[in-house]
Amino acid sequence: MKAPSPIATLPPRLVRLRDGQDYRLRLIDDRDAAMVAEMFATLSTESIRARYGYLIKNMTPERAAELAHTDTSRDTPLGIFGLRWDGTESHLWAMGRLVHAPDNQSAECAFLVHDSQRRLGMASTLLRYLRVLGRRRGVPRLFAQVRRENKAMLNVFIQNGAQLHFSPDSDVVEIDILLQRQKFLFDNPSRAPSIAPMSSPEKKRFSIVGFLFDMVLSAGFFVFFYYALQSHVPSNDPTMIRLWSTLAAACMTGVFWLALQMLKTVFGFQRSNRK
Ligand SMILES: CC(C)(COP(=O)(O)OP(=O)(O)OC[C@H]1O[C@@H](n2cnc3c(N)ncnc32)[C@H](O)[C@@H]1OP(=O)(O)O)[C@@H](O)C(=O)NCCC(=O)NCCS
Repeated sequence: MKAPSPIATLPPRLVRLRDGQDYRLRLIDDRDAAMVAEMFATLSTESIRARYGYLIKNMTPERAAELAHTDTSRDTPLGIFGLRWDGTESHLWAMGRLVHAPDNQSAECAFLVHDSQRRLGMASTLLRYLRVLGRRRGVPRLFAQVRRENKAMLNVFIQNGAQLHFSPDSDVVEIDILLQRQKFLFDNPSRAPSIAPMSSPEKKRFSIVGFLFDMVLSAGFFVFFYYALQSHVPSNDPTMIRLWSTLAAACMTGVFWLALQMLKTVFGFQRSNRK
Protein backbone atom coordinates (compact mmCIF):
# COMPACT_ATOMS: atom_id res chain seq x y z
CA MET A 1 0.00 0.00 0.00
CA LYS A 2 1.30 3.51 -0.83
CA ALA A 3 2.35 5.62 2.17
CA PRO A 4 0.19 8.74 2.61
CA SER A 5 1.82 12.01 1.49
CA PRO A 6 3.27 14.06 4.30
CA ILE A 7 1.17 17.09 5.24
CA ALA A 8 3.07 20.32 4.86
CA THR A 9 2.53 22.95 7.53
CA LEU A 10 3.52 26.57 7.69
CA PRO A 11 3.18 28.59 10.88
CA PRO A 12 1.50 32.00 10.35
CA ARG A 13 3.96 34.81 9.71
CA LEU A 14 4.03 38.50 9.02
CA VAL A 15 5.16 39.64 5.58
CA ARG A 16 5.95 43.24 4.73
CA LEU A 17 4.94 44.13 1.20
CA ARG A 18 5.80 46.92 -1.21
CA ASP A 19 3.39 49.40 0.43
CA GLY A 20 5.38 49.12 3.66
CA GLN A 21 2.46 47.43 5.47
CA ASP A 22 2.58 44.16 7.36
CA TYR A 23 0.22 41.38 6.32
CA ARG A 24 -0.36 37.94 7.77
CA LEU A 25 0.47 34.97 5.60
CA ARG A 26 -1.06 31.69 6.72
CA LEU A 27 -2.88 28.59 5.60
CA ILE A 28 -6.58 29.15 5.01
CA ASP A 29 -8.92 26.92 7.01
CA ASP A 30 -12.61 26.26 7.53
CA ARG A 31 -12.99 29.27 9.85
CA ASP A 32 -12.17 31.64 6.99
CA ALA A 33 -15.32 30.98 4.94
CA ALA A 34 -16.83 34.37 5.82
CA MET A 35 -13.70 36.23 4.73
CA VAL A 36 -13.54 34.23 1.50
CA ALA A 37 -17.14 35.21 0.76
CA GLU A 38 -16.36 38.84 1.56
CA MET A 39 -13.36 38.84 -0.75
CA PHE A 40 -15.42 37.46 -3.61
CA ALA A 41 -18.19 39.98 -3.00
CA THR A 42 -15.80 42.82 -3.84
CA LEU A 43 -13.74 41.19 -6.61
CA SER A 44 -14.14 42.27 -10.23
CA THR A 45 -15.80 39.81 -12.57
CA GLU A 46 -12.61 39.84 -14.75
CA SER A 47 -10.51 38.64 -11.82
CA ILE A 48 -12.88 35.79 -11.00
CA ARG A 49 -13.02 34.79 -14.67
CA ALA A 50 -9.24 34.94 -15.01
CA ARG A 51 -8.84 32.68 -11.99
CA TYR A 52 -11.63 30.14 -12.54
CA GLY A 53 -12.33 30.44 -16.26
CA TYR A 54 -15.98 31.20 -15.51
CA LEU A 55 -17.94 33.64 -13.39
CA ILE A 56 -19.03 32.71 -9.90
CA LYS A 57 -22.18 34.82 -9.76
CA ASN A 58 -23.36 33.95 -6.28
CA MET A 59 -20.84 33.22 -3.64
CA THR A 60 -23.11 31.17 -1.43
CA PRO A 61 -21.96 30.29 2.09
CA GLU A 62 -21.57 26.68 0.90
CA ARG A 63 -19.30 27.68 -2.00
CA ALA A 64 -17.24 29.93 0.28
CA ALA A 65 -16.91 27.10 2.78
CA GLU A 66 -15.77 24.84 -0.05
CA LEU A 67 -13.05 27.31 -1.09
CA ALA A 68 -11.89 27.74 2.49
CA HIS A 69 -12.00 24.02 3.25
CA THR A 70 -8.71 22.20 3.25
CA ASP A 71 -8.54 18.57 2.44
CA THR A 72 -4.87 18.22 3.38
CA SER A 73 -4.47 15.09 1.30
CA ARG A 74 -5.55 17.07 -1.77
CA ASP A 75 -4.87 20.76 -1.49
CA THR A 76 -2.99 23.50 0.32
CA PRO A 77 -4.65 26.94 0.30
CA LEU A 78 -2.54 29.86 1.47
CA GLY A 79 -3.84 33.36 2.16
CA ILE A 80 -2.57 36.87 2.76
CA PHE A 81 -4.67 38.79 5.28
CA GLY A 82 -4.85 42.51 5.98
CA LEU A 83 -4.39 43.49 9.63
CA ARG A 84 -6.08 46.02 11.90
CA TRP A 85 -4.03 48.17 14.26
CA ASP A 86 -4.55 45.60 17.06
CA GLY A 87 -3.24 42.73 14.93
CA THR A 88 -6.60 41.10 14.18
CA GLU A 89 -7.33 40.16 10.58
CA SER A 90 -9.54 42.53 8.64
CA HIS A 91 -9.64 41.11 5.09
CA LEU A 92 -8.49 38.24 3.02
CA TRP A 93 -6.63 39.92 0.17
CA ALA A 94 -5.01 37.10 -1.75
CA MET A 95 -5.20 33.34 -2.16
CA GLY A 96 -2.75 30.86 -3.62
CA ARG A 97 -3.52 27.19 -3.76
CA LEU A 98 -1.72 23.95 -4.49
CA VAL A 99 -3.86 21.09 -5.74
CA HIS A 100 -1.88 17.90 -5.32
CA ALA A 101 -1.87 15.01 -7.76
CA PRO A 102 -2.85 11.72 -6.04
CA ASP A 103 0.66 10.30 -6.56
CA ASN A 104 2.22 13.42 -4.95
CA GLN A 105 4.50 13.84 -7.99
CA SER A 106 3.13 17.26 -8.95
CA ALA A 107 0.79 19.98 -7.77
CA GLU A 108 -1.12 22.59 -9.71
CA CYS A 109 -0.84 26.14 -8.41
CA ALA A 110 -3.23 29.04 -8.93
CA PHE A 111 -3.56 32.57 -7.56
CA LEU A 112 -6.11 35.27 -6.98
CA VAL A 113 -5.23 38.70 -5.65
CA HIS A 114 -7.88 41.28 -4.82
CA ASP A 115 -8.09 44.07 -7.45
CA SER A 116 -7.33 46.71 -4.83
CA GLN A 117 -4.07 45.04 -3.74
CA ARG A 118 -2.29 44.36 -7.02
CA ARG A 119 1.42 44.93 -7.68
CA LEU A 120 2.34 44.75 -4.02
CA GLY A 121 4.08 41.41 -4.42
CA MET A 122 1.23 39.30 -3.01
CA ALA A 123 1.22 36.69 -5.78
CA SER A 124 5.03 36.47 -5.74
CA THR A 125 5.01 36.02 -1.96
CA LEU A 126 2.37 33.31 -2.18
CA LEU A 127 4.30 31.53 -4.91
CA ARG A 128 7.48 31.63 -2.83
CA TYR A 129 5.73 30.01 0.14
CA LEU A 130 3.80 27.53 -1.99
CA ARG A 131 7.17 26.36 -3.24
CA VAL A 132 8.29 25.90 0.35
CA LEU A 133 5.13 23.95 1.12
CA GLY A 134 5.49 21.82 -2.00
CA ARG A 135 9.09 21.05 -1.16
CA ARG A 136 8.19 20.17 2.42
CA ARG A 137 5.63 17.75 1.13
CA GLY A 138 8.16 16.16 -1.20
CA VAL A 139 6.48 17.27 -4.44
CA PRO A 140 9.11 17.42 -7.21
CA ARG A 141 7.27 19.82 -9.49
CA LEU A 142 4.57 22.50 -9.55
CA PHE A 143 2.69 23.35 -12.70
CA ALA A 144 0.06 25.77 -13.95
CA GLN A 145 -1.86 26.54 -17.11
CA VAL A 146 -2.20 30.22 -17.92
CA ARG A 147 -3.91 31.90 -20.83
CA ARG A 148 -1.52 33.73 -23.18
CA GLU A 149 -3.26 37.05 -22.61
CA ASN A 150 -2.82 36.85 -18.83
CA LYS A 151 0.43 38.84 -18.87
CA ALA A 152 0.23 39.59 -15.15
CA MET A 153 0.24 35.93 -14.18
CA LEU A 154 2.86 35.01 -16.77
CA ASN A 155 5.13 37.79 -15.50
CA VAL A 156 4.78 36.59 -11.92
CA PHE A 157 5.95 33.15 -13.04
CA ILE A 158 8.77 34.53 -15.19
CA GLN A 159 10.03 36.72 -12.35
CA ASN A 160 10.06 33.73 -10.05
CA GLY A 161 12.12 31.44 -12.24
CA ALA A 162 9.40 29.21 -13.74
CA GLN A 163 9.77 27.56 -17.14
CA LEU A 164 7.16 28.63 -19.70
CA HIS A 165 6.20 26.37 -22.59
CA PHE A 166 4.37 28.05 -25.47
CA SER A 167 2.73 26.01 -28.14
CA PRO A 168 1.76 27.64 -31.46
CA ASP A 169 -1.66 26.00 -31.61
CA SER A 170 -2.74 26.72 -28.06
CA ASP A 171 -3.90 29.76 -26.11
CA VAL A 172 -2.66 28.19 -22.95
CA VAL A 173 0.91 28.47 -21.69
CA GLU A 174 2.16 25.51 -19.68
CA ILE A 175 4.15 26.51 -16.62
CA ASP A 176 6.67 24.28 -14.87
CA ILE A 177 8.40 24.91 -11.59
CA LEU A 178 10.93 22.30 -10.57
CA LEU A 179 11.33 22.03 -6.84
CA GLN A 180 14.09 19.47 -6.68
CA ARG A 181 16.57 20.73 -9.15
CA GLN A 182 19.65 18.91 -10.34
CA LYS A 183 22.80 20.45 -8.96
CA PHE A 184 25.01 22.38 -11.33
CA LEU A 185 28.40 23.63 -10.26
CA PHE A 186 28.05 27.24 -11.37
CA ASP A 187 24.31 27.52 -10.85
CA ASN A 188 22.89 30.79 -9.53
CA PRO A 189 22.22 30.47 -5.85
CA SER A 190 18.51 29.98 -5.19
CA ARG A 191 16.58 32.50 -3.08
CA ALA A 192 15.69 29.91 -0.51
CA PRO A 193 18.32 29.93 2.22
CA SER A 194 20.31 26.76 1.87
CA ILE A 195 23.91 25.77 2.09
CA ALA A 196 25.49 25.66 -1.36
CA PRO A 197 26.30 22.06 -2.23
CA MET A 198 30.03 22.62 -2.59
CA SER A 199 30.35 24.44 0.71
CA SER A 200 28.32 21.83 2.53
CA PRO A 201 30.03 20.82 5.76
CA GLU A 202 29.07 17.19 5.26
CA LYS A 203 31.05 14.63 3.32
CA LYS A 204 34.44 16.31 3.69
CA ARG A 205 36.61 13.25 3.18
CA PHE A 206 40.31 13.35 3.92
CA SER A 207 42.52 10.84 2.22
CA ILE A 208 46.11 10.42 3.35
CA VAL A 209 47.04 8.92 -0.03
CA GLY A 210 45.58 11.95 -1.81
CA PHE A 211 47.41 14.27 0.55
CA LEU A 212 50.76 12.53 -0.01
CA PHE A 213 50.18 12.54 -3.75
CA ASP A 214 49.56 16.32 -3.65
CA MET A 215 52.68 16.82 -1.52
CA VAL A 216 54.86 14.88 -3.96
CA LEU A 217 53.42 16.75 -6.92
CA SER A 218 53.93 20.11 -5.20
CA ALA A 219 57.47 19.20 -4.12
CA GLY A 220 58.30 18.30 -7.75
CA PHE A 221 56.78 21.59 -8.88
CA PHE A 222 58.85 23.48 -6.28
CA VAL A 223 62.14 21.78 -7.21
CA PHE A 224 61.57 22.37 -10.92
CA PHE A 225 60.91 26.07 -10.45
CA TYR A 226 63.65 26.49 -7.85
CA TYR A 227 66.21 25.54 -10.49
CA ALA A 228 64.40 27.15 -13.42
CA LEU A 229 64.18 30.51 -11.66
CA GLN A 230 67.82 30.74 -10.60
CA SER A 231 69.02 32.07 -13.93
CA HIS A 232 66.35 34.83 -13.72
CA VAL A 233 67.49 36.33 -10.39
CA PRO A 234 69.38 39.56 -11.26
CA SER A 235 72.29 38.99 -8.86
CA ASN A 236 75.71 37.35 -8.80
CA ASP A 237 75.54 36.56 -5.10
CA PRO A 238 74.83 32.81 -4.74
CA THR A 239 73.01 33.40 -1.40
CA MET A 240 70.71 36.00 -2.96
CA ILE A 241 70.07 33.72 -5.94
CA ARG A 242 69.10 30.83 -3.66
CA LEU A 243 66.98 33.05 -1.42
CA TRP A 244 64.93 34.67 -4.22
CA SER A 245 64.48 31.52 -6.25
CA THR A 246 63.33 29.72 -3.06
CA LEU A 247 60.81 32.47 -2.25
CA ALA A 248 59.49 32.74 -5.80
CA ALA A 249 59.23 28.95 -6.18
CA ALA A 250 57.44 28.74 -2.78
CA CYS A 251 54.87 31.37 -3.85
CA MET A 252 54.23 29.59 -7.12
CA THR A 253 53.94 26.25 -5.31
CA GLY A 254 51.31 27.76 -2.98
CA VAL A 255 49.26 28.86 -5.99
CA PHE A 256 49.80 25.44 -7.59
CA TRP A 257 48.52 23.73 -4.40
CA LEU A 258 45.37 25.87 -4.38
CA ALA A 259 44.72 25.28 -8.08
CA LEU A 260 45.20 21.55 -7.57
CA GLN A 261 42.67 21.50 -4.70
CA MET A 262 40.12 23.45 -6.77
CA LEU A 263 40.59 21.12 -9.72
CA LYS A 264 40.06 18.07 -7.53
CA THR A 265 36.95 19.62 -5.97
CA VAL A 266 35.44 20.37 -9.37
CA PHE A 267 36.19 16.88 -10.72
CA GLY A 268 34.88 15.25 -7.54
CA PHE A 269 31.70 17.32 -7.73
CA GLN A 270 31.10 16.53 -11.39
CA ARG A 271 31.71 12.84 -10.82
CA SER A 272 29.28 12.70 -7.89
CA ASN A 273 26.68 14.57 -9.94
CA ARG A 274 26.96 12.10 -12.82
CA LYS A 275 26.21 9.13 -10.54
C1 LIG B 1 -1.99 37.61 -11.71
C2 LIG B 1 -2.10 38.13 -10.29
C3 LIG B 1 -2.27 36.92 -9.36
C4 LIG B 1 -0.83 38.92 -9.93
O1 LIG B 1 -0.90 39.31 -8.60
P1 LIG B 1 0.01 40.49 -7.97
O2 LIG B 1 0.00 40.31 -6.49
O3 LIG B 1 -0.44 41.79 -8.50
O4 LIG B 1 1.46 40.16 -8.55
P2 LIG B 1 2.86 40.67 -7.95
O5 LIG B 1 2.65 41.97 -7.25
O6 LIG B 1 3.50 39.57 -7.20
O7 LIG B 1 3.64 40.95 -9.30
C5 LIG B 1 4.90 40.44 -9.58
C6 LIG B 1 5.32 40.86 -10.97
O8 LIG B 1 4.40 40.34 -11.92
C7 LIG B 1 4.23 41.31 -12.97
N1 LIG B 1 2.87 41.82 -13.02
C8 LIG B 1 1.93 41.76 -12.05
N2 LIG B 1 0.79 42.31 -12.49
C9 LIG B 1 1.01 42.75 -13.76
C10 LIG B 1 0.23 43.38 -14.73
N3 LIG B 1 -1.05 43.71 -14.49
N4 LIG B 1 0.80 43.65 -15.92
C11 LIG B 1 2.07 43.33 -16.19
N5 LIG B 1 2.88 42.71 -15.30
C12 LIG B 1 2.36 42.42 -14.10
C13 LIG B 1 5.17 42.44 -12.69
O9 LIG B 1 6.40 42.14 -13.32
C14 LIG B 1 5.31 42.35 -11.18
O10 LIG B 1 6.53 42.88 -10.72
P3 LIG B 1 6.66 44.47 -10.54
O11 LIG B 1 5.43 44.92 -9.84
O12 LIG B 1 7.92 44.57 -9.72
O13 LIG B 1 6.79 45.02 -11.91
C15 LIG B 1 -3.32 39.09 -10.15
O14 LIG B 1 -3.24 40.06 -11.14
C16 LIG B 1 -4.67 38.39 -10.23
O15 LIG B 1 -5.20 37.95 -9.20
N6 LIG B 1 -5.25 38.25 -11.45
C17 LIG B 1 -6.57 37.65 -11.60
C18 LIG B 1 -6.57 36.16 -11.33
C19 LIG B 1 -5.65 35.41 -12.23
O16 LIG B 1 -5.42 35.76 -13.38
N7 LIG B 1 -5.12 34.29 -11.71
C20 LIG B 1 -4.25 33.43 -12.45
C21 LIG B 1 -4.93 32.15 -12.75
S1 LIG B 1 -3.73 30.84 -12.79
